[in-house]
Amino acid sequence: MQPVVTRRLIIRRMTETDLLDFLTYQTHPKVLRYMPVEPLTEERAMRFLARQAVVEIGDEGGYIVFAIHHIGDAKMIGEVGINLLPWAQSKGEIGWSLHPIYQGHGYATEAAQVLLTYGFAHRKLHRITSICDTRNTASFRLMERLGMRREGHLRQSQFIKGSWQDEYIYALLDDEWLAQQSVTVDG
Ligand SMILES: CC(C)(COP(=O)(O)OP(=O)(O)OC[C@H]1O[C@@H](n2cnc3c(N)ncnc32)[C@H](O)[C@@H]1OP(=O)(O)O)[C@@H](O)C(=O)NCCC(=O)NCCS
Repeated sequence: MQPVVTRRLIIRRMTETDLLDFLTYQTHPKVLRYMPVEPLTEERAMRFLARQAVVEIGDEGGYIVFAIHHIGDAKMIGEVGINLLPWAQSKGEIGWSLHPIYQGHGYATEAAQVLLTYGFAHRKLHRITSICDTRNTASFRLMERLGMRREGHLRQSQFIKGSWQDEYIYALLDDEWLAQQSVTVDG
């Protein structure tokens, strides 16, 4: 995906020069609260960014994470990512994180809309899903703002910070996304 400029952001590939900004939110307890991961070390972050510089969507293990670059502050403030699901190249899964001081301003929505356009219009995906801990209200509210539908409640499906947690799965189909676009254009 070529860099996409929106009203306040640039959605672009990550580079190794993003290391400091990347570590700042990837080690923040508020960002990791509902994720089954430990804070990122500098070494792992460097390996991740080096891989991001070359990975292509559709590669095995090809989760691509795009930088959410804040134009006004000239820095990366978070990420949106997309993964093509194995054995089903027309299905994708998306995710996101924002540094807490940039939450609550609509930046994740603005960035995720770019990712949905990329997935449906450019990659011709049929179905895009997203999954989050049921306690992660900010994440599922974002899915709902994007027009995604809650399709399921997965019982104790993720082991997070010492206990099994429930998750919601949301989805959007290509024709549903298309219908949303015409409402936006017409309305
Ligand atoms: C999930 C996450 C990215 C959502 O971030 P967010 O800031 O709530 O989402 P947005 O950037 O789209 O902002 C929307 C909020 O800003 C408000 N807002 C303010 N100005 C706005 C604008 N111009 N446009 C849209 N929304 C705006 C909205 O009302 C909304 O607040 P509300 O949910 O209280 O109604 C964020 O909570 C996060 O990084 N969490 C930690 C990582 C994580 O858990 N990731 C998901 C793993 S599944």
